[in-house]
Amino acid sequence: MKAIRIRSYGDADVLAVEDVAPTAIGPKDLRIAVHASSVNPIDFKLRSGAQRAIVPLSMPWTLGMDVSGVVTEVGAKVTDFAVGDEVFSSPSHKRMGCYAEEVVVRADECAKKPASLTHNEAAALPLVGLTAWNALVDTCDVQPGQKVLIQAGAGGVGTVAIQLAKHLGADVYTTCSERNVELLKMLGADRVIDYRAERFEDVAKDCDAILESMGGDHLERALATVKPRGTVASITPGLPTYTKKHGAFLGVLVFGLYLVRRVIGARLHNGARLRLVTRKASGANLAKLAALVDEGVIRPVIDRVFALDEVADAHRYLETGRARGKVVLQVAAA
Ligand SMILES: NC(=O)c1ccc[n+]([C@@H]2O[C@H](COP(=O)([O-])OP(=O)(O)OC[C@H]3O[C@@H](n4cnc5c(N)ncnc54)[C@H](OP(=O)(O)O)[C@@H]3O)[C@@H](O)[C@H]2O)c1
Repeated sequence: MKAIRIRSYGDADVLAVEDVAPTAIGPKDLRIAVHASSVNPIDFKLRSGAQRAIVPLSMPWTLGMDVSGVVTEVGAKVTDFAVGDEVFSSPSHKRMGCYAEEVVVRADECAKKPASLTHNEAAALPLVGLTAWNALVDTCDVQPGQKVLIQAGAGGVGTVAIQLAKHLGADVYTTCSERNVELLKMLGADRVIDYRAERFEDVAKDCDAILESMGGDHLERALATVKPRGTVASITPGLPTYTKKHGAFLGVLVFGLYLVRRVIGARLHNGARLRLVTRKASGANLAKLAALVDEGVIRPVIDRVFALDEVADAHRYLETGRARGKVVLQVAAA
């Protein structure tokens, strides 16, 4: 089968199309014919080596943490999926990824694809949807009437998080540049803050919860904005900045000390909680997201679709930091 592999860390040029042997399937696994995948910032962070102190890749490696496709083989102990099922998943980063014509995934990391979505649309949802769920539901426990700030509302995570926070009954504040203001209002945001014209801390005061996705001074500013005993759920505390400055291993240590200071500092300052959130692979949570999609509550926002062998261009595009919603890789029929 065709897969996109890297044989060393580096820029987008290290991504290469290769012919690889099919992966063996375990008793609790599904083999999926990939119809679509999508690109996430974690892909280029892993590719560049910025995360290698905490997630080392054994080369050659296939990247990609989103898939929508059709089950072609079922492990001996799997009972809830059958050959021919349309499924979607954001599988564990510990296995070979989804930039390929087929992928083997643990069945409990899969759910039936939302019936109302194409494969291209469904592949845009799993990683960002699970992240938004882990941050807003599992970590912040957002309740109706609470004030919630979603940073970078126009990104992959933000476009889903706004819709989920509205569904949870929150008063939703979000940040973006001027060109995306109307899109985020359409997604349900109550107050859109153009970050070039206003500082979010001057507008979104005393938030119950903040989904923090920019890192660096945005994290400091979020901690100053959250209300006493509120929660800042940080999905990007900023490790790559530290590894770039101090190297892959010392960077992790310096970064760890920085975070411990922030967590304790926030507690002592006003009792706020700083929580680091990492997406958890979960078929059960994907099934809940799929139900919300089919009820019309959440729609994925797709910016661009690239073919599988255009993946280097897809990485370069996402790395501009300007994508509006998701960048999809189409592998077979949409
Ligand atoms: N912890 C986890 O498990 C986890 C999971 C998913 C993602 N993440 C991380 O979370 C971050 C966001 O992910 P993503 O997929 O949403 O990224 P993305 O899709 O690449 O985000 C792009 C968006 O960021 C917005 N943006 C850029 N600078 C901004 C600023 N100063 N203020 C507000 N918005 C700004 C841009 O909007 P404008 O063009 O309008 O500026 C653009 O739409 C990444 O660092 C990613 O690695 C972590």
